[in-house]
Amino acid sequence: MKVVRTIAALETAPGTGLVPTMGALHDGHVALLRAARQENRTVVMSLFVNPAQFDEQADLAAYPRDEARDLEIAAAEGVDVVFAPTAAELYPPGFATWVDPGETGAEGAARPGHFRGVATVCLKLFDLVRPERAYFGQKDAQQLAVIRRLVSDLNVPVEIRAVPTVRDPDGLALSSRNGRLSAEERERALGLPRALASAAGDPDPVAAARSSLNGLEPEYVEVLDLGDAKVLAAAIRVGSTRLIDNVLVEGELA
Ligand code: PAJ
Repeated sequence: MKVVRTIAALETAPGTGLVPTMGALHDGHVALLRAARQENRTVVMSLFVNPAQFDEQADLAAYPRDEARDLEIAAAEGVDVVFAPTAAELYPPGFATWVDPGETGAEGAARPGHFRGVATVCLKLFDLVRPERAYFGQKDAQQLAVIRRLVSDLNVPVEIRAVPTVRDPDGLALSSRNGRLSAEERERALGLPRALASAAGDPDPVAAARSSLNGLEPEYVEVLDLGDAKVLAAAIRVGSTRLIDNVLVEGELA
């Protein structure tokens, strides 16, 4: 496995699958790496904690980083190249051009500037790596919608593949933020996947989820249209930790 830190050292190859990540890898990321490994000759994983997508500086500073462990996991999953640039490599002095993703739903409203940072870095990664396919988790459903819109609107020649959310056995969606939950907070957080799962079949899933989230004040509950599928999505805060989750209510994700 090659670790590449500069744009100059990055090589492109036909039949490449790209898995963009911010590191702190868990089994959700591993599911993306496995899907990419199955479908592509070359697998590139990017490892970049993108400062442009953090709406709170404290959140960026607190973001978990363990590159040695991430590289071990990537190697074990058969990744060919890890692209791990510095922030200055992707945002050199004078950087000024941004992708404005327009409509970004309740998640975008809750995190001003977040999807602009996500869209900009992903477009840069697509252009640098030139993948045939790129892999994103259903877990971040609004992100998936933004990336699909971006690729369609700007004619980016990449196929976007969605990978279902990986959960702990108790139902909590894996997230690098879960490590910040105390045992008591984690127990409360389980109310989120439970409420979404129980509301998924209801004729008014938003109302059903809201009423079964009792005690957990949701930031939003909404149905999000992903084109081939609709998901019921919600965000909650447990203590100081913000968690998002969603479940399919219609169709299937490709
Ligand atoms: P990050 O949070 O590291 O997530 C990288 C990818 O893993 C995303 O596509 C995300 O949806 C997926 N993922 C996270 N948890 C998952 C889970 N439990 N099951 C399945 N997939 C999961 O998302 C980002 O990084 C960044 O915004 C990025 C796209 C890299 C741009 O900076």
